[in-house]
Amino acid sequence: MNQQSRMPDDQTHAAIVARENLDFDLDNPDIPKYWMGGDAFKTRFFDAMSTLFPQGERFFITSVREFRDQITDPTLLQEVKDFTRQEAQHSMVHRQYNERLKRQGVDIDAITQQLEDDLFTEAQRLLSPTQRLGVTAALEHLTSMMCTCFFERRELLEASDPRVRAMYAWHAIEEVEHKAVAFDVLQRVAKAGWWRRNVPMFLVTFGFPFTVAGIMNTMFKVDGFSFWQRMGLWTRGLWWFYKPGGLFMPTLGYYFAYYKPGFHPWKLKEMPSYGTWLKTFNDTKDPIAAGNALHAAGA
Ligand SMILES: [Fe+2]
Ligand SMILES: [Fe+2]
Repeated sequence: MNQQSRMPDDQTHAAIVARENLDFDLDNPDIPKYWMGGDAFKTRFFDAMSTLFPQGERFFITSVREFRDQITDPTLLQEVKDFTRQEAQHSMVHRQYNERLKRQGVDIDAITQQLEDDLFTEAQRLLSPTQRLGVTAALEHLTSMMCTCFFERRELLEASDPRVRAMYAWHAIEEVEHKAVAFDVLQRVAKAGWWRRNVPMFLVTFGFPFTVAGIMNTMFKVDGFSFWQRMGLWTRGLWWFYKPGGLFMPTLGYYFAYYKPGFHPWKLKEMPSYGTWLKTFNDTKDPIAAGNALHAAGA
């Protein structure tokens, strides 16, 4: 029997489809600077993540492809190809979005350079290929967690600009489609056990929020908020993040599932209304209409 054979519950998940040449009208000057209902904190949280994606996703692709020659399962090999194509598209669209941020005064080049140093110099020097893949699988879990849990709650993105929301909806859909690829390579090809899967998760759980918070704070300074105004933003924002029923509390079950022995990404709940997005997109080929449909279908 093939040593990299698939688990029975892997067979039912959605296909990984790279959708190319999508137009979200992101250069439109009508898109408000604070596109999440005029809220600086919420907007800059999502904006900060956007600044991370081009380099971050290149790191994911590189980490997974380092194991490509050892993959014998043709299905997994095809999934790695499709995952690569999806992530490359995400990087491209977020680079376009980040140009907007550049025009707002955010030093995207400095953020990019810092990430380049962290991910492509330091991580290459300090971590083994399996550890880099472990970091990738952990970050892919955090990404699919946010995608699955945020779009379930209609109120969260209610007042958002439909074009930016649609970009995140498309990204979320594709993250969910490929959520198990890095994990499968880590487990079935790199043969990482519980510790080598979970130590990286523990590290990124702290490293990722600090990186995002640092970028957000820099953005607030660029936006002209004084020290005390920034303190106010953080006080209200951290409450929004961590209050009962806030942004992150409802994600805890999804998050902690990763640490369970025998965990696999496809054992977790499906993304709500995935089928609604897919049907609308396939019918219209319009990613903004599909984003609106996904949002409208939320609870
Ligand atoms: Fe992505
Ligand atoms: Fe991803």
